[in-house]
Amino acid sequence: NTTFSLNRPSVHFTPSHGWMNDPNGLFVDKNGTWHLYYQCEWTRLTAAANGCIDCTVTPNADCRQPDCAVAGNQHWGHATSPDLYTWTNQPIALFPPNSTSGVFSGSAVIDANNTSGFFPDQDDGVVAIYTLNTPTLQVQELALSYDGGYTFTPYEGNPVLDVGSNQFRDPKVVWYEDHWVMVIAYSTEFTIGIFTSNDLKTWEHASNFTDMGLLGLQYECPNLIQVPVWENGTATGDLAWIMLISINPGAPLGGSISEYFPGTFDGYTFTPYDGAARISDFAKDNYAEQYFFGTDPSEAISIAWASNWQYTNVVPTGDEGWRSAMSLPRYNYLTKVERTGWEMGSLPYKQLDAVKGRQFSYDQDFGNNSVTIDYSNVTSGAMYFSANITLPEGGVLDATSTLNLTFSSSAGDRLRAGYIFGGSNAGVGWIDRRYTLGYGEDDPLFTDRFSVAGVALAKRIEGVIDRSIFEMFIDDGAFSGTSVFFPQEPLNNLTVQTGGMPEGSRIEIAVWELDSAWQ
Ligand code: FRU
Repeated sequence: NTTFSLNRPSVHFTPSHGWMNDPNGLFVDKNGTWHLYYQCEWTRLTAAANGCIDCTVTPNADCRQPDCAVAGNQHWGHATSPDLYTWTNQPIALFPPNSTSGVFSGSAVIDANNTSGFFPDQDDGVVAIYTLNTPTLQVQELALSYDGGYTFTPYEGNPVLDVGSNQFRDPKVVWYEDHWVMVIAYSTEFTIGIFTSNDLKTWEHASNFTDMGLLGLQYECPNLIQVPVWENGTATGDLAWIMLISINPGAPLGGSISEYFPGTFDGYTFTPYDGAARISDFAKDNYAEQYFFGTDPSEAISIAWASNWQYTNVVPTGDEGWRSAMSLPRYNYLTKVERTGWEMGSLPYKQLDAVKGRQFSYDQDFGNNSVTIDYSNVTSGAMYFSANITLPEGGVLDATSTLNLTFSSSAGDRLRAGYIFGGSNAGVGWIDRRYTLGYGEDDPLFTDRFSVAGVALAKRIEGVIDRSIFEMFIDDGAFSGTSVFFPQEPLNNLTVQTGGMPEGSRIEIAVWELDSAWQ
């Protein structure tokens, strides 16, 4: 099935069929099993007129229709993994009570100490905290799991938080010293509410974080998390708090993106270090990022939805009618860079260990060169590359001093990315999906080129290409870009080209094939 293998990523999570958006309820259990829930729509009960049928009732090939894979009557899909790359699909975890409501985004916690009183006989009770969206209201509900997150029962006392608003959603709960803390978006008021609770059932308003950064048109999917602080590429042992807010629509490049604020948190109030709005990703397909509950704070691990509300419902998909991929699982940290100050960095979890295959190509001293690597026999279609760059003291760089990558197909598709070392654009990284010709030409919203203004010359550039998604990380991910693209034919050639690098530059290039993570 060519459509299937063309677009479906090999090492990024995609739903077996149907529609997917935000990651929800992320947690890791005490056995090290990672749980990913996600906004999904397999039912299309309301779209029966279009011939879309209920896949939860009839899970066969007939229900896998691309036209039916659009957002609507939201559920929580579920998958589990031992390593964050190889996923096992699980049955749908949360169902809305009827066809006009949806189980919207939210989070999950393990109530190991039975603070809620729901779990007198176990230390692995899971509580999902989510928004129930109805035509008139958005209220916050709980669902309880006695079997470690596989099946859930709605709490009898629902809703646990109702402020009478139809724009109040996406609760994310963390534990702070001696109480639970929820961040939640008053979406159209550009406000993140901070609530506290001792038992997950009764929530008290503690403070608001309002009108900060880029407003977009709505705030969504907030996270309040602790991340490790790095200095010059290594962890200092310190931790910092970050408020992360997804905005949609109204991102600087259009549609949806996340912004973040480093700061301090005292259990009730979040205070940003400065008023700057910082964007998580320099391309357009990284949204609604959520952090896992249950990790050590020195390992702040997240997954984002790799799409954009502007065009997500119309981009190509596979014959099986699935739509959207998640980003790679990422480690996150806060670091200080020259000139702009705080930057949140992110890197693929464990450098893709679980799926890293054979080293495909290696050159320890590439120099000024151009090499084309044919990877058509890499059946996953997925590759990881890294370039380590050491520039000579006093070497002269100019606008021709560049590193360029071109992934191409025999049909003429080209995905390009690169980095500029000299001239007036020194420090710029970029991605260009303009020549992936399966989608985009006539869609002005499917922005085709992205760049980031670097602040110091990069020493390391790495990335992952995976059939229809590309992620690029500059300098240990101090800057990262996530971009989907849709070629007409599989990309299977990689050209690495450098030019204008001064005598004495050392450029080490390595390329690995990635194993497919499909079970
Ligand atoms: C963000 C979002 C959330 C909402 C969910 C609905 O992408 O709009 O605010 O809970 O998606 O699917």
